[in-house]
Amino acid sequence: MNPQPQNVLDNPGNNTIFLVWNFKKDQEVEDAFQRVCALVINLNNSGEVRFPDSGATCIMGIGHDAWRRLGLPVPLPKELANFMPVVGEKHTAVATKGDLHFHIKGRVSSICFDMASAIAQVLDPVAICVEEVHGFRYWDGRSILGFVDGTENPQGEKRAFFGLIGDEDPGYKGGSYVFVQKYIHDLKAFKALPVEEQEKVFGRYKESDVEMSDEVKPSNAHSAVANVGDDLKVIRDNMPFGNMATNEMGTYFIAYASTFSTVKKMLDSMFIGSPEGNYDRLLDFSTPKTGSLFFAPSVSFLKNIASGGVSEAGSQSSDGSLSIGSLKKEAGYE
Ligand code: HEM
Repeated sequence: MNPQPQNVLDNPGNNTIFLVWNFKKDQEVEDAFQRVCALVINLNNSGEVRFPDSGATCIMGIGHDAWRRLGLPVPLPKELANFMPVVGEKHTAVATKGDLHFHIKGRVSSICFDMASAIAQVLDPVAICVEEVHGFRYWDGRSILGFVDGTENPQGEKRAFFGLIGDEDPGYKGGSYVFVQKYIHDLKAFKALPVEEQEKVFGRYKESDVEMSDEVKPSNAHSAVANVGDDLKVIRDNMPFGNMATNEMGTYFIAYASTFSTVKKMLDSMFIGSPEGNYDRLLDFSTPKTGSLFFAPSVSFLKNIASGGVSEAGSQSSDGSLSIGSLKKEAGYE
């Protein structure tokens, strides 16, 4: 039996709350983490039973340093490491610290809000919420820049293929790498471009959402540089956000992937360019303020932690149960 994944394959809901939490120094965090694992399972089950059509879900991701501090299984998921900045000639993908990431989504904002506040209640004593972004579906799934975002995402069965870990890392089957960046756009400068120029930034026509032909599409268009091959895809669940008082208009970029190296290839191509210097034109209007990698383990993994399960390091049995064991010691936390 394959371990049940968290709801990473669902489409983005109408409302989203993204939260990043960092553990406080010199705190015992294991109990709170165990409770938050149980809570995430509880919130998802409860959302399904109480409001079956709400699409209310909550996905938790764990960062590298938190994984080590919590003494979670070793070896770690193969590609779970701290994200390192990607430095291009003109633009940089910054790296920021993140211990836990929550992606809450649903059709109704009330459920999302309650889920976020339940999580805060458990984590408040031991962690600080360093990022909170409320995203919303903008018209027919457009980014705040006015272009439809998500069209070339994998569909159907391909979502599981590109989004979930399989037999290549059996201990973490059903898990997914989660990469996030909070982008702020220079909306004024972008809107000042004639529509034809805006379309060249994305390589797609604005109104119809149709892709430009290869002969017409500029080589530095976003859809040209971010496309690193038909067999290298990720699941993007980006959400726009905006704040009139602070004039912060942005995109919360979030990708779920069976391998982080695919996301890294996209970032290299966008920020450094291939050939070098052919960086993504979208970056002239978009600045990443954060950048962190997390791992969203299977539901079976979370259940095992929630019940205090302990067995052998790094192994996941057919029902998906994982072990913690003497791992804290190995990880240097005891
Ligand atoms: C500044 C934030 C971003 C915005 C507003 C944005 C928006 C878009 C839009 C409108 C499209 C075209 C429609 C579609 O296929 O979804 C697109 C395509 C795509 N984006 Fe982004 N994106 C952003 C950042 C990123 C980042 C950071 C990555 C990768 C690390 C990425 C990867 C992709 C990929 C793979 C495609 C599909 C390319 C293709 O095969 O045609 N995007 N994005």
